[in-house]
Amino acid sequence: MSVDLSTVYLSLELRNPIVASSGPLTGNLASLQRLEEAGVGAVVLPSLFEEQIVHDQLEVERLYEFHADANAESLDFFPELNDQYSTPNAYLQRLEDAKRRLSIPVIASLNGASDGGWIDYARQIESAGADALELNLYFVPTDPEMSSADVEQRYVDLVAKVRDSIQIPLAVKIGAQFSALPHFAGQLALAGADGLVLFNRYLEPDIDLDRLHIKPELVFSQPFESRASLRWIAILRDQLPTVSLAATSGVHSSETAAKLLLVGADAVMMTCALITHGPGFVTKVVAELADWMVEKEYDSVGQLRGSMSRDNTPDASALERANYVQTLAEFTSRHVV
Ligand SMILES: Cc1cc2nc3c(=O)[nH]c(=O)nc-3n(C[C@H](O)[C@H](O)[C@H](O)COP(=O)(O)O)c2cc1C
Repeated sequence: MSVDLSTVYLSLELRNPIVASSGPLTGNLASLQRLEEAGVGAVVLPSLFEEQIVHDQLEVERLYEFHADANAESLDFFPELNDQYSTPNAYLQRLEDAKRRLSIPVIASLNGASDGGWIDYARQIESAGADALELNLYFVPTDPEMSSADVEQRYVDLVAKVRDSIQIPLAVKIGAQFSALPHFAGQLALAGADGLVLFNRYLEPDIDLDRLHIKPELVFSQPFESRASLRWIAILRDQLPTVSLAATSGVHSSETAAKLLLVGADAVMMTCALITHGPGFVTKVVAELADWMVEKEYDSVGQLRGSMSRDNTPDASALERANYVQTLAEFTSRHVV
């Protein structure tokens, strides 16, 4: 028996819900092709970063000596990014190449936090042929004068600006640390987000005790990190029925993918697992997902998607305070004598 794995994400028809999220494997034409051959539903290219765009603009200005000394420091400290991706033009070229080579949807990614000229690249990304744009908003507020409402408004304004400048579908990738996510998610949708990608992983800094300096460190995700997406997609699914929801962080297996689809994800994204096991891992995940659906007698992803969302599950309280007292009491009686 075969099952229909197709899904619609950001109005795009995907052959299955497994998406290779932004990361090193989607930054290279050879691995993009291997991902497509392995059966991935869509790919999200690595981000074009605000810092890259600003750096490029400063380089041009310096070249023409408009501001000979201004911001020289930021030029000197800009990290060397690998190969051609390090300039915005190279990014657009790579996007065009990916579109030419692949037949699955290619989603581009723009990553920033401030109001500025970098947003103009959304239009150029659209012109270069992206099927959709993922806007990764990553901002760490450190100013005590800035309220959570200010932070949210900043995100909403950025989304509205990008929305105004492009026609292609727009997804917004955010972190999980918002105090009233359902309201904020609704505001992002009102500002023009067609989809939400939940949740971005922030780089938490560490301290090098020998050299006594702070070092930002990228560590691979762990499967438990998918739990935040699981909870919030379950809660948001019925509140935002027309908004696409994608899960990212901690998806390392077909089991986790199945759980995220059950709570209402339209697409399930993977990066670290694909780096660890290689692009071919997609084939295994897709096949196992199909096998599990057959075993549970689901005909299609459409049928299973959201069948355990907050409105559709009898255990909704487990999504909220997670039966807090009962769960703690059970744990204590099992593990502490
Ligand atoms: C090496 C690496 C590079 C990444 N680059 C980007 C990026 O350019 N833009 C972005 O939005 N996310 C980026 N991510 C985040 C991933 O897209 C993904 O959201 C995150 O790794 C969590 O998913 P995972 O647990 O499946 O890895 C990157 C992740 C890794 C590990």
